Amino acid sequence: MGIGYGKVILFGEHFVVYGLPAIAASTDRKTEVVISEFNGEGILCDYEGRWEGRNLLEEDEETEWFRKIVFLLLKELELEGKSFKIQIKNNIPVGAGMGSSAAISVALGRALDEFFELGLGEERVSELAFKAEEVFHGTPSGIDNTLATFGGLIWFEKGKEIEKIGVKEPINIVIARIERKGNTKELVGRVREKREKNLEEFRLLEEKARGIVGNAKKTLEDNNLDELGKLMDENQKLLREIGVSTEEMDELCEIALKEGALGAKLTGAGGGGCMIALTPEEELQGKVAKGLEEKSLEVIKTKIGV
Ligand code: PMV
Repeated sequence: MGIGYGKVILFGEHFVVYGLPAIAASTDRKTEVVISEFNGEGILCDYEGRWEGRNLLEEDEETEWFRKIVFLLLKELELEGKSFKIQIKNNIPVGAGMGSSAAISVALGRALDEFFELGLGEERVSELAFKAEEVFHGTPSGIDNTLATFGGLIWFEKGKEIEKIGVKEPINIVIARIERKGNTKELVGRVREKREKNLEEFRLLEEKARGIVGNAKKTLEDNNLDELGKLMDENQKLLREIGVSTEEMDELCEIALKEGALGAKLTGAGGGGCMIALTPEEELQGKVAKGLEEKSLEVIKTKIGV
């Protein structure tokens, strides 16, 4: 079986595309892919709760995005023409900023590695998922495939070695999901346009983002969670300034803060999608989660730094 982890970006989304640092963490949400023998011709695929018995040799609108990933990986691994069965299980919200597409690519890469005994190694699995992300996202920073592969709590800078961040104990958070307008590619494209039009102004925001992410690393290591929450709020302000938050997202952050969360911000590309709120004590986590229920499609209580 192959596993890929879902993630939340705690600090630095969008700015990470331009080489600035970001901090992200895996959650308990994941994708699992199992590959087994198939005696027929083609690639038989089940995706729990979504589709069953689809042969990926046949074009099909619903499975199109997944066919693209599968055939890209098979080409990269020189496995074209092989027949097998794929079973997918996923509990990461899809298209919501939690890296579900990278997680599925990583899980598939690992499952192919195991079934065909390829001896790929972690870096290659991550690289394959990056290639798949390029198809969907255009210019991914690499943070999604990295987290989906390695998990944990990490400091990420494009093109550099990842750095693990150590915390005293796992930290409780609440994730709330609302509808998302626009996909990652569109949102990243919109920010890029804005940046190119007002480069000087954008550079000031980039410096602010660099400061926030640097301070966040220190506060995580020092277990200074009050300060960490304030930095999340500051990061949310920056995301609002670059135009990727929405009224509904701002409202969700306000609700979380009113219920006592130490900080709240959108996570991922924005345009709706997921919000994360910092809620260290379990009781507080429950209270914030309850408060968010009415306005959310889904509320998840989880931990980072596990
Ligand atoms: O919304 P997601 O999970 O696809 O995250 C995108 C994160 C961005 O920083 C907006 C883009 C990137 O490639 O880093």
